[in-house]
Amino acid sequence: MKKTFIIFGLSLVIAACGNGKSDNSSGADSTASAKKDSSSAPAAAAGMSSAPGAQLIAKADCGTCHKEQEKLIGPAFVDVAKKYTSSPAVIDTLANKIIKGGSGNWGTIPMGPHASLSMDDARTMVQYILSLKK
Ligand code: HEC
Repeated sequence: MKKTFIIFGLSLVIAACGNGKSDNSSGADSTASAKKDSSSAPAAAAGMSSAPGAQLIAKADCGTCHKEQEKLIGPAFVDVAKKYTSSPAVIDTLANKIIKGGSGNWGTIPMGPHASLSMDDARTMVQYILSLKK
């Protein structure tokens, strides 16, 4: 019973905030970020200009071997984006490859494993990489 009350109270507050703005699109972004799990929310809030995938990549070691536009030790992320068509299966395959490491698609140099990455974070990175396609 108490819970219902809190939820009801909250929705009143939300409704009150929305007042004056006729559509609900203005409130959409705050609701969306509130729904995100806490691990990615602060980063997303801190840098509104960067996609969550870009933030994860910046925090990881990817930059040692990858650049967005140029080949380094690994392929340029734009080239990866060109090679694949984004689909759930492709995203899973590439996310798995980032976690497990491997070679053979771009040459003989292997990418080391990133065993501590979660599948979700790896997918978010891949989604960002594939979004670089022009
Ligand atoms: C030690 C260097 C190194 C690091 C660090 C590294 N990569 Fe790679 N990456 C490579 C190499 C080399 C390849 C090419 C592998 C191949 O030929 O299949 C590659 C390939 C890839 C591919 C394409 C895979 C495919 O099968 O086409 C993606 C996507 C990728 N890396 C993402 C990442 C991300 C995201 C990170 C950070 C979490 C990362 N890489 C860190 C070296 C690295």
